Amino acid sequence: MPSVLFLCLGNICRSPLAEGAFRALIARHPDADFAVDSAGTGGWHAGEAPDPRSVATARRHGVDISAQRARQLAAEDFARFDWIVAMDSDNLETASRRRPAGDAHARARLVAMIDFVHPEVRGRLRGVPDPYYGGLDGFEEVWALLAAGMPNLLEAMRAGLPDHRAEAPRGTA
Ligand code: 4NP
Repeated sequence: MPSVLFLCLGNICRSPLAEGAFRALIARHPDADFAVDSAGTGGWHAGEAPDPRSVATARRHGVDISAQRARQLAAEDFARFDWIVAMDSDNLETASRRRPAGDAHARARLVAMIDFVHPEVRGRLRGVPDPYYGGLDGFEEVWALLAAGMPNLLEAMRAGLPDHRAEAPRGTA
């Protein structure tokens, strides 16, 4: 079964929403069977439930993420998962640096979530913005970006295209 790990900094705001949005998407695609998890590059919140603002935002969109528990990215994740999907470029660079050398940990393909969001939706953003220090509207923005990108991500993973990018429609770019 293909497997995907969503990655952010604390694993309490963005990647739990990403995990929830992706699980909700594949629940509507019975033919898409994925092992799904999320993690943070930092371990400060390990063992905690998602931020209450993430739980509330997901719930507003019909998704229950309250049972998730935070954990830190581990060396084994590079061997266990086919895809690691980073929320921003810091997370991507940190994960890239932490990949252990050798074939055993060469499995996971490391990609940026924002690359699967259509340019018109992502605007001038370079990553999924960290909503931790802001208000609820930031969590809604994160959900909107994730919801827009997940179908593209699913399509790319099923096609086995690690460098897939969400492009502008032909003729308008
Ligand atoms: P996340 O957000 O990476 O989307 O889970 C954050 C959560 C916690 C902290 C920063 C960002 N923190 O500094 O504790």
